[in-house]
Amino acid sequence: MSTEAVDKSRRRFLTAATGVVGAVGAAAVAVPFVSSMLPSARARAAGAPVEADLSKLEPGQLLTVEWRGKPVWIVRRTEEALKTLSSLDSSLRDPASDVISQQPEYAHNAVRSIKPEFMIMVGICTHLGCSPTFRPEMAPADLGPAWKGGFACPCHGSRFDLAGRVYQNVPAPTNLVVPPHKYLSDHFILIGDDGSVA
Ligand code: FES
Repeated sequence: MSTEAVDKSRRRFLTAATGVVGAVGAAAVAVPFVSSMLPSARARAAGAPVEADLSKLEPGQLLTVEWRGKPVWIVRRTEEALKTLSSLDSSLRDPASDVISQQPEYAHNAVRSIKPEFMIMVGICTHLGCSPTFRPEMAPADLGPAWKGGFACPCHGSRFDLAGRVYQNVPAPTNLVVPPHKYLSDHFILIGDDGSVA
């Protein structure tokens, strides 16, 4: 074998060996990642509580987390949005949240939340289960001059305010559901466990 041929075959070997090491390395990295993800994915699907970090949520923004396969929305309401809530009461079907199945006792208040700034609700329309669209803007052309921010369902037109309260004259019968939750610290919440069930 000429020197050139030896060099070429050695180069081929080194190239192949590097490829194998690369593949093994990738597999070695991927396996622990997948195995560490699986239990929590299984736990989430089974309904385990999920934590959410609110520290990066700016006023007016919405964060979505998944709990029991459903979207849970966390909205950081602005001062202005909070002030408008009571002015909407006469346009709403259940302004005082009298349908008690729709929220835990600690969210049965004027703002439907533990801390007024943060609204936590299940993002599923109470009509037939579509996911409404977040529409935080004031008086957009398609929602009319009285709109003060909230959620509009694309399926059959139900509307909800920024406390998840349903408007009158839409198909959704009740306010959006507030899931069980509690604060673990100032900016961490646990969704799915409020300590009321042992
Ligand atoms: S599912 Fe939302 S209005 Fe029908």
